[in-house]
Order: sequence, then C-alpha cells, then structure tokens
Amino acid sequence: MRYDLLIERWPLFAEGVWTTVQLTALSVAIGFCIALPFAILRSRRTPVASPLIAGYVYAIRGTPLLVQLYVFYYGLSQFDFIRDSFAWSYLREPWWCALIAFSLNSGAYATEIIRGAIERTPKGQIEAAKALGLRTWQVYALIVVPSALRRAIPQYGNEVVFMMHGSAIVSVITITDILGAAREFNGRYYVSDEGFLTAAVLYGLLTLLIVLIFRALEGKFLKHLRM
Ligand code: ARG
Repeated sequence: MRYDLLIERWPLFAEGVWTTVQLTALSVAIGFCIALPFAILRSRRTPVASPLIAGYVYAIRGTPLLVQLYVFYYGLSQFDFIRDSFAWSYLREPWWCALIAFSLNSGAYATEIIRGAIERTPKGQIEAAKALGLRTWQVYALIVVPSALRRAIPQYGNEVVFMMHGSAIVSVITITDILGAAREFNGRYYVSDEGFLTAAVLYGLLTLLIVLIFRALEGKFLKHLRM
C-alpha cells in the first residue's frame, strides 16, 4: 500500500467527500419537499393528482437510477427546445443533472415511505381530532403529518444511506465524488487498491455518521413509543 501517496493526495479525497455529502444532503432535502405534499395527496386518493403521482412513482421505481442519470445527462440534449432554453446552461452541467435525477429519485421513494407512515395513523387519533371540531387541513397539519414523520424516521434513515451510496454512480458522468476521487487517484498513480479501499472506508464513515444522526432523531422523537 502506498500510504505516502494517499497522504500526499488527501485534498482530492476531501473534495470527493464534500461533493458526496452535498449531493446526498441536497437531493434528500429536495426529495423530501417533493414527497411530503405528494404523499398527502396520494393518501387522500385525490382525483387527478393521485394517479399522476402514482405514475411518477412507478416511472422512477421502474427504471434504475443509473439510467435516470443518463437520461438527464445525455438524453435532454436531444431536444431542441431544451437546448434553446435558459435552463440549458444548467442542464448540460453534470452536477445539475445529477442533482435533478437524484432529487426526483429520492422524492419518489420518499413519497411511498411517508404515505405508508400516514396510512398507519391510528384511527382513534383522527376521530378524536374530528370530535374536537378540527377541520381536515388542521387534522393533517397538527396530527397526521407530525406523527407520520416521526414514524417514518427509521425508514428515512435507510433512504439517506441509500442515496449516499447510490450517489457513487455520478463518477461515470465526470463528477469527482468519493468514488470519482478514488478512480482519479488509481489512474494517476497506476495502483488499484489504494483508492478504492480509501473510498470504502470513507463511505463507511459517512454511513456511520448518518446512522448516528438518525439514532439521535429516533431517541428524540420516538422514545415515547418504546416499552
Ligand atoms: N438500486 C435501485 C436503482 O438503482 C434502487 C433505487 C432506490 N432509490 C432510492 N431512492 N431508495 O434504481
């Protein structure tokens, strides 16, 4: 093992970690903003909106994340109206393609996570809220959504870990994330293990960080459910 090279080139890996963290955090956050309203509409079986959202979720779950990334990175340039639009200056950047593809992907999976949690709301809670005279939107805002978000925490932890690991595919569209840094490192120094093992350790450490954050969230918000 050429530890000396690893130590010398640590800024490359630091850049990779920062890119992975940013991409994961932003796409999970944007995905959540997509998922919360979508999950509510889905759970209410709202006409028109609910089937459209079901189609979006199906489209995202029906295709691999890598294919979605390629569609955004290579596919969009085929349409003249996109190439002529102001958005093109962003959409041809690998970073923006990755962010959009990942946010839409996480949004679809999170829609199902949150919808599942909403539909597990104990019926008694809703009846009690209605008996108190709360309107439907108040029942959602004050009772259903807060308790569903608490119940969704363990599954959401999984989703964040998944997006962090899944983000490793951005190295195929020239982004220097953790795996991208490892590939660059191995290529430059003509080694094979050093870069990838370092990447594995870094991903493992980031996973540990996410697990600890979610454990803290569970401690804060789910403690009352423990026996
Ligand atoms: N491995 C699958 C894929 O590449 C699963 C995607 C899961 N996405 C998620 N946000 N949980 O498409």
